[in-house]
Amino acid sequence: MDNLMHAIETQGKALDSDVLLVDSFLNHQVDVSIMEEAGETFAKAFAGVKIDRVATIESSGIAPAAFTARALGVPLVIMKKQTSRIMTGEAVHVPVRSFTKGTVYELMCKKAFLPEGDSVLFIDDFLASGEAAFGAMKIFEMCGCQLAGIGILIEKSFQAGREKLQEKGIRTVSLARVASMETGHVSFLPADA
Ligand code: G4P
Repeated sequence: MDNLMHAIETQGKALDSDVLLVDSFLNHQVDVSIMEEAGETFAKAFAGVKIDRVATIESSGIAPAAFTARALGVPLVIMKKQTSRIMTGEAVHVPVRSFTKGTVYELMCKKAFLPEGDSVLFIDDFLASGEAAFGAMKIFEMCGCQLAGIGILIEKSFQAGREKLQEKGIRTVSLARVASMETGHVSFLPADA
């Protein structure tokens, strides 16, 4: 997706060789046109695949996932990182370690929003080591759902996530694949869509 790659090139800042700051269009301020195009691109890429709902993890996955759900005409489910005091009903929980942030959080979803037998497309902003994706997949499995595929805005291809998903035979569509971020310059691999 050229607009996304252009935004990464012109607005993204490599904080070091591992972390890309994209808070001007993705993580803090949001470029809604790019998110809308991303949603439409994911919907096209997964056309023909049975998708009953789209799921993401709060917070930065919500914008692209919402446009994907809209384009596919299915509900969006936002998996939570914090339990709420007003939560009712049965929920599933999985601990997820964030290597980038050095924290562990409890990923949570109400079973009622991931009905058994449904096919779920997982959308997220970044793919790094794949911990969030594997946590989400564990949640789907605990709810009796199938994974339809994974859509990622920015894949850091120099980290292990993509390879781990490929080893499991999981179809992953990344709209921007960052090969390296040396000396402030971002280089890309060919995107999946
Ligand atoms: P992983 O899930 O692929 O293993 O990734 P990791 O644990 O390393 O990432 C955890 C969090 O850090 C995620 O956000 C992810 O989106 C974000 N992240 C990973 N690499 C980068 C990067 O290079 N740049 C930026 N800006 N973020 C990165 P999160 O905790 O879910 O935060 P948010 O969705 O609330 O923004």
